[in-house]
Amino acid sequence: MNHFAPFPAGRPRRLRRDAATRDLVREHRLHPSDLIWPVFVHEGHGLSTPVPSMPGVSRHTLDRLLPEVEAAAKLGIRALALFPVIDANLKDPQGQEALNPDGLVPRVVQKLKQEFPDLALITDVALDPYTSHGQDGVIDELGRILNDETVAILARQAVVQAQAGADIVAPSDMMDGRVAGIRQALEAAQQPYTRILAYSAKYASSYYGPFRDAVGSAGNLGKADKKSYQMDPGNGDEALREVAMDIAEGADMVMVKPGVAYLDIVHRVKTTFRVPTFAYQVSGEYSMIKAAAAQGWIDHDAVMMETLLGFKRAGADGILSYFAPEAARLLQR
Ligand code: PBG
Repeated sequence: MNHFAPFPAGRPRRLRRDAATRDLVREHRLHPSDLIWPVFVHEGHGLSTPVPSMPGVSRHTLDRLLPEVEAAAKLGIRALALFPVIDANLKDPQGQEALNPDGLVPRVVQKLKQEFPDLALITDVALDPYTSHGQDGVIDELGRILNDETVAILARQAVVQAQAGADIVAPSDMMDGRVAGIRQALEAAQQPYTRILAYSAKYASSYYGPFRDAVGSAGNLGKADKKSYQMDPGNGDEALREVAMDIAEGADMVMVKPGVAYLDIVHRVKTTFRVPTFAYQVSGEYSMIKAAAAQGWIDHDAVMMETLLGFKRAGADGILSYFAPEAARLLQR
């Protein structure tokens, strides 16, 4: 470890004296290819529905999504994370629509892959957009989440997505053993190159509220919570055990979620495992910045960029963020 010489030989401010010097010694930089853009898609044609709790974010029909994706790709964004808004009449307690090869996600994936073959497409593996109770898995008569039964369904869901052309499947459900279940099913379905981005350390967070509004699962979930599968915000070591298990089960990349409140976890995961590590700046984090900026209390662009850079400094290889296109546009200047 290098240290500065004692004052006055050592003057850290020398390196901060002008912009050129600051640029020379900057340790971390943000690049558009660091950004993964989460997008919401719903059924229909010619429709974009704004998400009230996420200013600037809309749910699009496929035809409306295409020009948005084209613009994002031109800005240098290389990856999209796809989240479906499923019609209420297609939801049931088993989330069966998740396995429909002609469902919304497979159709959107096929079209996006056709139009943008160089874009990495990430699909979410979890049942909450599809279940009438809004949980990520199937439940018993007491409402408890059934682990192994859910894993069997998730494995089939991942295969449907991979067969449609998804490059990366991302289990966000936090069932035990799901990475192993998905990896085995992908191998059996002759999809050995489908990557698994595991939401390994996903916390039972109150920052997901606006997302649940966006996909329409908030009403289904009601007063129930996800604490029996998502992690307790008080735990750090446990995140490392989760990551270790997911890597052993066949995950190619791991994720920590939410972001800013869990940067210590991002850092520990990266320094402990040295695997591709991603962080998700979730809906509530996005909306907080938007809300404060709308009040004129903070500088929107400066806070957005400072926050995204913080993820990289903590050790993230990439960041899922609803700011992706806005940030990429700023980086182009
Ligand atoms: C659910 C899922 C959630 C998010 C991504 N996938 C919400 C939840 O667990 O309830 C949240 C993302 C966000 O808040 O931006 N499988």
